[in-house]
Amino acid sequence: MYFKKITDMIADSADNGQLQKKMQFIQESYKNVRANLLFALAGTKNEKAKILMFTSAEQGDGKTTTCLNQAAAFADAGAKVLVVDADLRRPRMERYIYSEKKRKGLSDVLGGFADVEDVIVKPTNCNFDCLFSGSIPPNPSELLMLEIVGDLFEKLAEHYDYIFVDTPPVGIVSETLYLTQFVTGVVLIAKKRKTHIRKMQDAVASLNFAHANILGIVLNGSADSTSRTYYRSKDKYYYY
Ligand SMILES: Nc1ncnc2c1ncn2[C@@H]1O[C@H](COP(=O)(O)OP(=O)(O)OP(=O)(O)O)[C@@H](O)[C@H]1O
Ligand SMILES: [Mg+2]
Repeated sequence: MYFKKITDMIADSADNGQLQKKMQFIQESYKNVRANLLFALAGTKNEKAKILMFTSAEQGDGKTTTCLNQAAAFADAGAKVLVVDADLRRPRMERYIYSEKKRKGLSDVLGGFADVEDVIVKPTNCNFDCLFSGSIPPNPSELLMLEIVGDLFEKLAEHYDYIFVDTPPVGIVSETLYLTQFVTGVVLIAKKRKTHIRKMQDAVASLNFAHANILGIVLNGSADSTSRTYYRSKDKYYYY
């Protein structure tokens, strides 16, 4: 399991007290985000599944990393969770879990080339299910703006407590805003010392314009200066 693997790494590195502390800190941070998201979701409609979209103002702010680790944190608390890689332009999720990208996924389902039941997978190192992006389509916007996207989310919502959707940055592509109509709420990711405040303001304005329910902003990379080392270690784990 994703989250559990962090615990395994702590156990493996028991001789390294500093690394252990960092890992625990990160683990606690994800749990804190989980608690805050649960508070933010308390006022939302009691739908079958809560569907959360993870997006950001710019590229590389940590959407996929946060989405996967939050999925693990929610699943760790007993929830049935599905993550969906809806970033059909720069799909990375599958490679964060497996060493290569080769599975069918969302684009194949939307294109009518696969049934969703056949392409959802449960990786052995995860405590949640995954619907990867599938083949990179020539027309990601058109594909994600098909009416059947709403039907698909409705169908999936019958089987899960939470569906976490990883998307492209809101300020860069059009389909992210379109997808907001199908989700319970939006989690915006900002990266410390990277995300421009102006771009963030624009992203919030766009989401408000689309009447999206912004649940909150996660400030990624906000730990002390040593956190970088941790993430490098974690990257190795991801690619391992
Ligand atoms: N808090 C962090 N500290 C250091 N590195 C991080 C942190 N969060 C993510 N990263 C690293 O930054 C890179 C980008 O992260 P990630 O893929 O999660 O971002 P993204 O927003 O999904 O990017 P994209 O816009 O390309 O989809 C990855 O190598 C990831 O491991
Ligand atoms: Mg990503």
